[in-house]
Amino acid sequence: MKHLLKLEDLTESEILEILDLADKLKKENKKGIKHRILEGKTLGMIFSKASTRTRVSFETGIYQLGGIGLFLNGNELQLGRGEPIKDTARVLSRYLDGIMIRTFKQSDVEDLAKYGSIPIINGLTDYCHPCQVLADLQTVREYKGGFKGLKLCYVGDGNNMANSLIAGCVRLGIRVAIACPDKYRPDKALTERAAKSGLLSIGSDIGEMIKDADVVYTDVWASMGMEAEKAEREKVFKGYQVNEKYLKYAKKDVVVLHCLPAHRGEEITDAVMEAHAAEIFDEAENRLHAQKAVMVKLMKG
Ligand code: CP
Ligand code: NVA
Repeated sequence: MKHLLKLEDLTESEILEILDLADKLKKENKKGIKHRILEGKTLGMIFSKASTRTRVSFETGIYQLGGIGLFLNGNELQLGRGEPIKDTARVLSRYLDGIMIRTFKQSDVEDLAKYGSIPIINGLTDYCHPCQVLADLQTVREYKGGFKGLKLCYVGDGNNMANSLIAGCVRLGIRVAIACPDKYRPDKALTERAAKSGLLSIGSDIGEMIKDADVVYTDVWASMGMEAEKAEREKVFKGYQVNEKYLKYAKKDVVVLHCLPAHRGEEITDAVMEAHAAEIFDEAENRLHAQKAVMVKLMKG
């Protein structure tokens, strides 16, 4: 494993190795054990979209590992003025030991990896959000003890989160049901590949999709970059909400997850957020541990 560009690139054992290391780092970190595994290394963190969790967890994570994180605002780099990705990749590879990038196009992340010579980590694109799903899977295992035979239902937009959840769940043998409006399905090519596992179902009936789910997941109706579609999306997605009515169809001990930020009253109710705050904020915390594991795997050298 040289990069983390999308979860589909990882084998089941590569994902499990990351999660095992994430659990170990978390446990030892809580005991006060220091891991200066990336002493002297620099992670460049390019952000062309907003972030709370990704920025803070990566910057803290690399610091805890003995390295340093360099925040690079995409608009303040020459990249924002049109310097090509392929040149940026070659220049930054001469200074840094790894790059985390949050941007719009998946192809920009792939090009950084293609033209650069250091590990590239995808911190979210319009297509996927692999770091988030690694933390989600770590959380699922903490609460459910394993993966095989579980059912995860995602309610809402067939966006970057839905795509990465499908890729990650299918790899680990989790059944995944996507409840979304017909016109807002996840990526077609990805779902066609995932469907071959027999683990994926997609439909617009939330009650049917959520039935007997062990994990229910949701995300915003309008992702970053879709601000102009907000009003239209509010109409289309009305009803695609994780609320007490729909959770009755899921298993009694259902775990509710949300990548955050949440829009209470839209994709999730305040009551459900608060009732499931324990797992949702464990999930947010696990961003730190899962990403530290990713950085160790990629940047240790
Ligand atoms: N979930 C997530 O990636 O959060 P941020 O947008 O705050 O980084
Ligand atoms: N789908 C959301 C996820 C945010 C973490 C977005 O892309 O804005």
